[in-house]
Amino acid sequence: MKTALLGYGVVGSGVHALAEARPEHGITISRVLVRRDIAPIRAIATRDFQEIVSDPSIETVVEVMGGEEPALTYVKAALAAKKHVVTANKLMLSLHYEELLALARANGVRLAFSAAVGGGIPWLANLLRVSRVDRIASLGGIMNGTTNFILTAMQQGGADFAETLSTAQKLGYAEADPTADIDGLDVRAKLALSCDAAFAQMADASAIPTLGIRYITAADVAQFHALGLTCRLIGKAERTEAGVAAYVEPMLFAADAPEAGVNGTGNIISYCCEGLGSQSFFGLGAGQAPTASAVMQDLIDVSCGATPFSLAHCEGSFVPDASKASHPYYLRTSGALPEGCIDRMLGQTPAGAACITAPMPVSALHALVQARLAAQESVFAAGLASLES
Ligand code: HSE
Repeated sequence: MKTALLGYGVVGSGVHALAEARPEHGITISRVLVRRDIAPIRAIATRDFQEIVSDPSIETVVEVMGGEEPALTYVKAALAAKKHVVTANKLMLSLHYEELLALARANGVRLAFSAAVGGGIPWLANLLRVSRVDRIASLGGIMNGTTNFILTAMQQGGADFAETLSTAQKLGYAEADPTADIDGLDVRAKLALSCDAAFAQMADASAIPTLGIRYITAADVAQFHALGLTCRLIGKAERTEAGVAAYVEPMLFAADAPEAGVNGTGNIISYCCEGLGSQSFFGLGAGQAPTASAVMQDLIDVSCGATPFSLAHCEGSFVPDASKASHPYYLRTSGALPEGCIDRMLGQTPAGAACITAPMPVSALHALVQARLAAQESVFAAGLASLES
């Protein structure tokens, strides 16, 4: 199957190498869209997307550029030209899922995106398969390797956030601009896309309350240790009486919870279904080899004419509502603790007093934290998973 790559960064070059290492699958990378000269692929490189989209010999386009544009324009043009598309682009998909699926359907081609959530973990494909025959009650977990690396390192080494982020950047885990990872935006896009797949409706990602780990301190982590708890950044969606609650936030897990044992750049993502019960998927959620592996699996499925992504459908949209999901929180702030919400005082840290709150609606706690941040307070909050109500 003649295939074009859009992008030749870490993932694109990994897909090329894997396709060449596994010639038995018949995936031939015949063109590559590049922004600069790359000597080893000069013979197949182009800077003109039109050369790819107008080439009838190319059956499949792999989009691994990332970002919303020009990736979206290229993917739409490729689908309209009746080329299958494989993409790892969670941001583009989380914003345009319904439109892109409809375009693929209308043109009789496949749109596959295993690598968009969980890297090499077979998450979305299994989520789509199970939702054929069961009703998803909840889903979520650790979906970001960079923040999991930072939280693990702070827990194990006692260092503060800024120092640990700098280490993550030196090791190549965190981007020079770490905003999308540390503020939870990467998890929000992955969670929205998981909701689209699980609930067959497009989730409004901008309505998902999102707290990241930017304001965690070594003293917070020491408090968690004293409580026997481990902090992880999670994305979670659950059915409630009001529809679907979805949120991204740091969460504290007891030592025997699977999430507490996922260290470094690992991910763990789970769904809970009414009939099947719970299933969890654990492994490397980022990096060249895992992500290229997921893209290659999609290419092989597309070339065989059978991909779990042919099951994907999406009609209409929904606005996640986190007001009916509720649990206690660890709350530390340099301002006054909200008196009516305190269940247990934990004492003073260098960045303010800390407490465990009574169970609070997720939407209310997130609004409180955002208001305190807007007022220039130092504040960090994390849900208590073991005491969810
Ligand atoms: N920045 C992401 C992570 C990459 O750290 O998980 C994979 O989506």
